[in-house]
Amino acid sequence: MTTPLVQVENLVKRFGNTEVLRGITLQVYPGEVLGVLGPNGAGKTTTINCLTTLLRPDGGTATIAGYDVIKDPEAIRALIGLTGQFAAVDGDLTARENLVLFGRLLRLSKAEAKRRADDLLKEFELFEVGNKRVKTFSGGMRRRLDLAASIVAEPLVLFLDEPTTGLDPRSRQRLWEVVRDLKSRGITIILTTQYLEEADELADRIIVIDQGQVIAEGTADELKQKVGSTFCEIHLAHLTDGNRCRELLADLGEIQGRGEQLSLCASDGVNTLTTVVKRLDEAGIPLADISLRRPSLDDVFFAVTGHGAASKP
Ligand SMILES: Nc1ncnc2c1ncn2[C@@H]1O[C@H](COP(=O)(O)OP(=O)(O)OP(=O)(O)O)[C@@H](O)[C@H]1O
Ligand SMILES: [Mg+2]
Repeated sequence: MTTPLVQVENLVKRFGNTEVLRGITLQVYPGEVLGVLGPNGAGKTTTINCLTTLLRPDGGTATIAGYDVIKDPEAIRALIGLTGQFAAVDGDLTARENLVLFGRLLRLSKAEAKRRADDLLKEFELFEVGNKRVKTFSGGMRRRLDLAASIVAEPLVLFLDEPTTGLDPRSRQRLWEVVRDLKSRGITIILTTQYLEEADELADRIIVIDQGQVIAEGTADELKQKVGSTFCEIHLAHLTDGNRCRELLADLGEIQGRGEQLSLCASDGVNTLTTVVKRLDEAGIPLADISLRRPSLDDVFFAVTGHGAASKP
């Protein structure tokens, strides 16, 4: 087995009396994408900030390629790229100027910095708007530029903190392609997200953190198996049919929900849906809508914590 490129053991971070990271342990192997999933305030950004030397941890150890984040911050900074949760690019500069500036800060010559900026603008489909000020960019364009800025010097490990939060589905897809491309070039990536779907699309492995602790770990499929299978969402046309519907479907599995909106664990996938449609049709119970739904982050959270992702105990 290969040695992990990123090794974090029992990482602790306190702000005042509050322990925000309560012993985070994780490993990332070379070329892997690790998804760090968790709700608001879970400690995702704090973890990333400790690993990227922006914050000093209060306990535990973290190394990247053998370098310690506390003892060798300079060495770490030379190896990594970071796209933070909030934009790092300057709105008053153009996209090209921003990238050239990053290149110059990395001690590239003027000519090299310009060449690198042009290559990145092309790669991230920003070449046409390269001479526009960034403050006129849409959120998706800005995120792409942010990502481009974090790979001006191609990093060994790239940290992406919620790269697609707030983007529309199309911009999100576009950014996913960029991330896949970076992975295919062998860059090891740690990506935080609030969306299971995103981790599902991009991550080889996922850790779920809640209140500063790792509460689950595995591939997307393994996490979903903890939740059970797909759900069949049943929307009846009439509220008054709710109880009869429950009786008719009782043998298929546990039914959740109330009123005309019911949810059934579809252990047999499409076959469960077909059975539901057939039985309700035979009983003369009209449907407003019916669909299959894959487990969401909320479902995973519920299964591993006993509370929803958004709620605090
Ligand atoms: N500089 C700080 N001082 C005090 N408390 C902080 C500081 N930074 C973060 N926290 C607290 O630490 C906890 C974890 O915050 P963090 O930003 O790591 O969460 P997150 O998982 O990134 O959340 P989000 O999804 O909202 O970005 C939160 O309760 C937050 O209020
Ligand atoms: Mg955050």
